[in-house]
This record gives sequence, structure tokens and C-alpha cells, in this order.
Amino acid sequence: MADLRVLFTHEQIQRRVEELAAEVERDFAGRKIIFIGVLKGATIFLADLARRVRLDATFDFIGVSSYGKEKQTSGVVRLTKDVEQPLTACNVILVEDILDTGLTMTYLRKVLLAHQPSCLKIAALLDKACRRVLPIKADYVGFTIPDDFVVGYGMDYAERYRNLPEICVLPPEMI
Ligand code: PRP
Repeated sequence: MADLRVLFTHEQIQRRVEELAAEVERDFAGRKIIFIGVLKGATIFLADLARRVRLDATFDFIGVSSYGKEKQTSGVVRLTKDVEQPLTACNVILVEDILDTGLTMTYLRKVLLAHQPSCLKIAALLDKACRRVLPIKADYVGFTIPDDFVVGYGMDYAERYRNLPEICVLPPEMI
């Protein structure tokens, strides 16, 4: 798309997702897993990752909203959609498109740990490690990126660009 700089092509993303899937397969061999996608950004990543993991797996989704995010985060994260099943004694992989300040993931981790899963891992396609406010790390990371505004492959700006197959940088003048 015009004016957008491609950061990762569709092929680069697919190759990395394949590698992450292999790690998940190794770590959870012989076990059932539940992928929990964080709406809406993680949907595309979850769909690609899950289709490459050849294990007995199911999906669920969780929704959050954080206020004041566009400019300065307020630090308030609110649950807008809960999971639809108890996760007690389950192997859970929480799937995110991007780990930024870490506020969302720290909040979700607490929410999901309250279910007492037997295992909770975090998969984040992108990690803006330089932006972290809370000390949370993902177990599976696709790419560590600088502090650019990225869109595509599930990620949006004002709900647009989620359907781009590649991940692009939105220039500051477009924000
Ligand atoms: C993005 C992303 C994470 C969160 C990460 O969601 O999907 O959920 O921000 O940021 P944090 O680490 O600073 O908390 P967004 O609010 O853009 O919603 P969306 O997934 O529906 O696009």
C-alpha cells in the first residue's frame, strides 16, 4: 500500500511463524493445548500459528480495552470479553500480536492465572521491548522491533490495515 514501508513481508512472517510453531510442538508434545487470542489484533497470527502446530488444540478469545492508548497509556486495562471455558489444569498459550508497554499482557496473565491452568505461555509475534513499562516477557517471540507504529497482519490504525498480509510501518505524518 502506498506510503507504507514494509517491515516484514508475508514470506518472512510465515517463515518465523513456522519456527515458532515448531518450538510450541516441541514444548507441548503429546499434550492438549488451548490457544487464547487477544482480540482483535492477534486473530491472524493465531490462525497461522495454530494451523502449523500439529497437536490437539482448541481456540478461545479474550478481549480487552485500554483507555488513552493512542497518545499516553492510562494504565487502565478492562476486560471486554472473557474466555468461554474454565482453564483449570489446561495448557494455555496466550497469543498476542504485539507486546508493547506490557500492561495488557500483565493484566491478562493475572486474569488467566486465576483459573489455575497447569501451564500458561505467552506468544507475541512482535515485541517492542524498548517500550516496556512492566517487566513481562513472552515465551515465544516472532520479531523484536523498534518503536515504530506498525500495521498489517492483524494490527490496525483506527481499525484499518488489519487485512494487509505484510507488517508495515505507518509514517508519523499519517498518524
Ligand atoms: C494492542 C495489542 C495488545 C496491546 C499491547 O492492542 O494487540 O493487546 O495493544 O500493548 P501494551 O503492551 O502497551 O498493553 P490494541 O489496544 O491496539 O487492540 P487491537 O488488538 O484490537 O488492535
